[in-house]
Amino acid sequence: MPRVRDNPIRTQENTGELREASSPPVEEITGDNDLREFYRGREINRGMPTKILDSQVEKLMQAHGRNSENMRTFVIRQEGKIVAGGQMELQESSGQTRAYLGKKFVNPDQRGQNFDAVLVKRRLDAAREAGAKLAYSLVEKTNIAALRSITKDGFDLSSLEHQPEMEHLKEKEYFASRDLTSNNPPSKIEMARVLGSIGKADLSGNELLIDLNDKQAIEEAFTAGFVGKFVFKPKELPQVDRVTMYLEKELKK
Ligand SMILES: CC(C)(COP(=O)(O)OP(=O)(O)OC[C@H]1O[C@@H](n2cnc3c(N)ncnc32)[C@H](O)[C@@H]1OP(=O)(O)O)[C@@H](O)C(=O)NCCC(=O)NCCS
Repeated sequence: MPRVRDNPIRTQENTGELREASSPPVEEITGDNDLREFYRGREINRGMPTKILDSQVEKLMQAHGRNSENMRTFVIRQEGKIVAGGQMELQESSGQTRAYLGKKFVNPDQRGQNFDAVLVKRRLDAAREAGAKLAYSLVEKTNIAALRSITKDGFDLSSLEHQPEMEHLKEKEYFASRDLTSNNPPSKIEMARVLGSIGKADLSGNELLIDLNDKQAIEEAFTAGFVGKFVFKPKELPQVDRVTMYLEKELKK
């Protein structure tokens, strides 16, 4: 029987907030040369060929824009080189300021060391300081590492259906969001609830585990009021041998 890890997820002991102590420093970059290095690193981590022409980087600079008060770029360096990074863009939506967290990457050699969590925390702090009430990101439905890491950072997954300007991306991406109006850490996931949901497929209950490949079932659960809370790897739960999304029924506010 596979052993369930005692504390695999975002409990108060291992939320992004508390992982900071052993973290590398995060730097905000402003100059164009640093931004070029950031875009180059990001493209390589998106699976682009390692040889990226200068002209391609210039196109990215034009397409994505330069740093400004509303678009800020944060990185982690090692031996002077950018090895991880992400952007935070302030946007106005329905009279509310929200922060889009995008373009994140961690170089393969540095993955699994909480660099992502540290960068998320820095960007959330910047977003809060700027008055954002919500932070969000868009995550490809098949990007297990990104889905796993963003839920560890306290973001909930839901459908893009309720974001009219982005609905065209609904087939490919989930909406990941985190409320910034409370200073409390993200709510704790109770393993007893997760374990209790194994083998159940009941939309009238409060917890669900759905195979990450079953995108239709996940969208149906979103429609029924569930939000994605975590992505389990195979064998982290008894008898669960697929990458699986754990969802909870969202309480009506
Ligand atoms: C997304 C990204 C920043 C996350 O970096 P990271 O937090 O250091 O994490 P990892 O890449 O090690 O993966 C996160 C987790 O997913 C797991 N994972 C990754 N791929 C997996 C797979 N195919 N099956 C099962 N688990 C997988 C890892 O084992 C790791 O597990 P852990 O939480 O137990 O440590 C990094 O993977 C990356 O730069 N990817 C390429 C760019 C990208 O996709 N950006 C996101 C755009 S939204």
